[in-house]
Amino acid sequence: MSERGPPPDTIVLGAGAAGLFHAGLAGQRGQRVLVLDHARRPADKVRISGGGRCNFTNLETRADRFLGENPHFAKSALARYTPWDFIGLMAAHGLTYSEKHKGQLFCDQKSGAIIQMLLDEADKGGVELRLSTGVDQVSHADGMFTVETAARRVSAARLVVATGGMSIPKMGATGLAYELARQFGHDVVPTRPGLVPFTFSGELGERFAAISGVATPVTASVPGARFEEDLLFTHRGLSGPAALQTSSYWREGAPLTLCLQTGDALGPALRAAKQASPRQGFAKALEAHFPARLAGLLAELGPIAPEARLADLSHAALDEFTAFLKSWQVTPMGTEGYRTAEVTVGGVSTDGLDQKTMESRHVPGLFFIGECVDVTGWLGGYNFQWAWASAHAAATA
Ligand code: FDA
Repeated sequence: MSERGPPPDTIVLGAGAAGLFHAGLAGQRGQRVLVLDHARRPADKVRISGGGRCNFTNLETRADRFLGENPHFAKSALARYTPWDFIGLMAAHGLTYSEKHKGQLFCDQKSGAIIQMLLDEADKGGVELRLSTGVDQVSHADGMFTVETAARRVSAARLVVATGGMSIPKMGATGLAYELARQFGHDVVPTRPGLVPFTFSGELGERFAAISGVATPVTASVPGARFEEDLLFTHRGLSGPAALQTSSYWREGAPLTLCLQTGDALGPALRAAKQASPRQGFAKALEAHFPARLAGLLAELGPIAPEARLADLSHAALDEFTAFLKSWQVTPMGTEGYRTAEVTVGGVSTDGLDQKTMESRHVPGLFFIGECVDVTGWLGGYNFQWAWASAHAAATA
C-alpha cells in the first residue's frame, strides 16, 4: 500500500469485503483513500467464507432475496452492480468459478485469491491500508470527519463506515457502525443473529443430539418464509441450510414447521409396503424413506406406536402419520447467537440513507455500506453481492 502522503479525501472504516472493495473503486476514481481496521489481517470473513472457497455471489440475486424494513431499498445498488460485474472483475484477475447449488458461485482459486484481488485493486487505486488500528472516536465539524486512533488523528471530507455486523465477535466484529449511526442521528433497526443454527432443550434437544450428523431434505417454514433445503440434526439442535435460512426470519417463541415428505409418494409407498410385508414393523418400514436413525425418531414422535406392525395399521392411521410429517412443528429454545451466526439481521436503518449512493440523508459525506446496513441476504452468496453492490454505489456517488 502507498506510503503516508497527503491527507485523504475518504476514510473507510473496515477492511472487510465492502470496505476493501469500495476503497479500490474510490481510489481508482481519483480519491485519496485511507482504510482503517482493528484486525491484523484484512477481510477475514472472506477468508473463511464458503468453506474457504468464498461463495462470492449468486446468479439469482434480486431484491426479494434480502430482508430489511424497506424491501425495495437494495434494488438500485443491486441493479447497478450485478453478479456479472464481479465475475468480470475476477476474470480480469484470471480467477474462475464453479456454480454449486441454486445459483451459488464459488471461486475455484479459493478465498485467498479473492482477498488478493481486492488488495490488488486497492493498490491500483493508491489506497493506504492501516491494520491493527482501532477507532477511538469520530467527530464531524466544518464538513470534515475526524477519526481518532491510538496512533493519530486523521480527517477527511468523506467517511465510509464498513465495519460489518455483530456476528462472530471472536473475529473482531463490533457494533461500531451502529454507534456511529446513532451518533449522527440515524435510526438502527434492532439487530439479531441471522443464518444461525437453532438450539433445542429438554427431551427434543436430547433426541436431536442422539441423531446428530443425520441430514434430510425438508421444506422448513416460519411466518413469512419457506425454504426447501437440507436439514441437519446437531448436538445442540438443528442446522443445515434449511435451519440457517429460516433462522433469519424466526422470532423467539415461534414454531418452526418442517415438512419431511419429498412429494406425496410416502403415503402410497407405506400402503404398498403394508400389502407386500404386513408383518414388518412400522419403524422399520420408514427406513426405506429416511436415514435409519431419523426413521426411528419420527416413528417415536409420530401418532403411531413404532413397534406396530403394518398389518395392524388402518389407512386412516397411515394418513395421519403422513399428515404429521407434512407439518411437524418444533419450537426452538433459541439460536446459537452471534457466536456462530453468519450475518446480523437489522442494522443501520435504510430510512436515513440514499438508496443510489448509500450516503446519509442527515450528514453529507457520511456513507454506510455492507452488512452494517439493514439489508440482509439469504444464504448462498447474497451477502457478498450486497457488500460489492453497496460499496460500488457509494464509490460512484
Ligand atoms: P466484514 O465483517 O466483512 O468486515 C468488517 C471489517 O470491519 C472487519 O475487517 C473488521 O475487523 C472491521 N471492524 C469491525 N469493527 C471495527 C472497529 N471497531 N474498528 C475497526 N475495524 C473494525 N456471505 C456470502 O455471501 N457468502 C459466503 O460464502 C459467506 N460465508 C460466510 C461464512 C461465515 C463463517 C461468516 C461469519 C459469514 C459468511 N458470509 C458469507 C457473510 C459475509 O462474510 C458478510 O456478509 C460480509 O463479510 C460483510 O461484509 P462487510 O465488509 O460489510 O463486513
